[in-house]
Amino acid sequence: MCGIIGIISSKESKKLSEITISALKRLEYRGYDSVGVASLGSKGIEVRKAKGTVEQVTLKKKIPEMSGYIFLGHTRWATHGAPTDYNAHPHTDCSGRIAVIHNGTIKNFKELRAELESLGHKFSSETDTEVIPHLIEEFIKRGMDSFTAFKSAIKSLDGSYAVLAIIDGEKRIFFAKRDNPLVIGLGEGENYIASDIPAFLPYTKRILVISDGEIGFLTNTNVYIEELNGNVVDVHKRIRIVDWDVETASKEGYAHFMIKEIHESPKAVRDTISSLMSDLDVVEKICEEIRQAERVIITGAGTSYHAGLYFSLLLTREGITSIPLIASEYYNVKGKKGDLIIAISQSGETIDVLQAIRKLKSEGAKVVSITNVIESAIARESDYKIYMRAGPEIGVAATKTFTTQVASLLFLYSYTFGKDWKALKDADKEVEQAINATEGFAKRVGEELAKKQNIYYLGRGLSLPLAMEGALKIKEVSYVHAESYPAGESKHGPISLVENGFPVVFINDGEMPELLKNNVMEMKARGGKIYVISANRKVGEADLEIFLNSKFPALSISPVIQLIAYYAAVSKGLDPDKPRNLAKTVTVE
Ligand code: AGP
Repeated sequence: MCGIIGIISSKESKKLSEITISALKRLEYRGYDSVGVASLGSKGIEVRKAKGTVEQVTLKKKIPEMSGYIFLGHTRWATHGAPTDYNAHPHTDCSGRIAVIHNGTIKNFKELRAELESLGHKFSSETDTEVIPHLIEEFIKRGMDSFTAFKSAIKSLDGSYAVLAIIDGEKRIFFAKRDNPLVIGLGEGENYIASDIPAFLPYTKRILVISDGEIGFLTNTNVYIEELNGNVVDVHKRIRIVDWDVETASKEGYAHFMIKEIHESPKAVRDTISSLMSDLDVVEKICEEIRQAERVIITGAGTSYHAGLYFSLLLTREGITSIPLIASEYYNVKGKKGDLIIAISQSGETIDVLQAIRKLKSEGAKVVSITNVIESAIARESDYKIYMRAGPEIGVAATKTFTTQVASLLFLYSYTFGKDWKALKDADKEVEQAINATEGFAKRVGEELAKKQNIYYLGRGLSLPLAMEGALKIKEVSYVHAESYPAGESKHGPISLVENGFPVVFINDGEMPELLKNNVMEMKARGGKIYVISANRKVGEADLEIFLNSKFPALSISPVIQLIAYYAAVSKGLDPDKPRNLAKTVTVE
């Protein structure tokens, strides 16, 4: 995920640089590892870019000094290539006369790059994006006009994109969209195009949303859009006025980032799986390490630990010696040659996880990391790295990143043991169905649980890590005490708390509903209020049970436990995005 902004005006001025900077600040939540700006004026295209935040790069590169009648601005969330000065957008062609910014991923960029290099094009970054300006350059060289060259470049891409391009000599911003957001803002003699509405909201409220597969250009007074098949779009019918403030608009209509991010889970899972599928060389190496390892030690903190525990159970069931290790307890394990560490962390900066890998690595272990933040400290210290590609997560509670951790781990598991890993291609649809089917159930359960003092979350087998995650989630955002136990273990002590109305949430992935039913009956007999989240096979006997038909129960159940926690917090009037005492990234031991 990255943030992009384009502005076009009739007059050349430095004022546009200020508008670009302020738009980038509002887009920074979409990516924050590097920033770049391109201006187009009478002296041609100028690009200034660097690693860092909007504020740092603005100062370092003296962005306010730039002048032009067109500006492009980009704030990056690295996907291909480390966050560095040279990988920052905009990217240019060989001549520096074409500049491009992009949000998305180009799956066939390696093939395109090889072809362009064989034609003599020189690349200066590791990004997938850089193929776009070179493609435009190549098509112009072959005699096409600017728009036809832009269209041909876009048609060559396989992947997701919101792309903006400028070409020296053209008073137009060219744009195209597939799977990533792009919205036009219509001003007075000045037009805007960005990843989202807040970017230009202080300047105009007249907007036009670009649909998937559309391509076109923007002048300072007009918009031209056509579909990729050439059909011209009637833009006037699309214009509407928004009545939002900036804060509301960055949540895209959702009340909180947490709920927005839960709803982003299907896309996040799609991106996770497609990225793994396009990087099978690395996947194969990691899977071979898993097969060969004497022990696989899986470490993480909080939510990431729960994803790790899930993977550890999968490995153990295949006869692999696996140790699930809460990262902060790393000193309890002595590493040795032959150990493989799998470190899981959304931020990639959690100090406990870093300490764990540093110690075990110094004792001879190899390290595989699964992080969301590209080139984070944990990724840098690993022998092999996988990225979740969930996009930035603003809510402190991990939601879409947990689901993508589980998706990545399921992929590794399926690939390692010769299961049907290709079936995960459709996993995003199951996540989407689960969200659509359970919102009402989750709201009702969340509101009921919010009124309680204590809750048990129980599960067996692979459902246990999900029960643990369900308890953590509701506890952290709604401040209701929740504890998880293996369901069979509950009768060895925890059941003594259960009396009339005590809430017990059972997680049932469909593997052992008969055994779970026994535990349900035990809780019921003591007056417990029973909620069951079931996939594939029902438990029955519950006060309230939701049933999901799913090939990947963990992926379907994950958003349901998150939605319950969200609605519990909201019903208590709490802000689930900023739970008290918690930080998104924990860099203290
Ligand atoms: C998740 O909802 C929590 N906020 C927390 O447990 C988190 O998962 C933990 O701090 C680990 O963070 P990481 O994935 O960035 O390493």
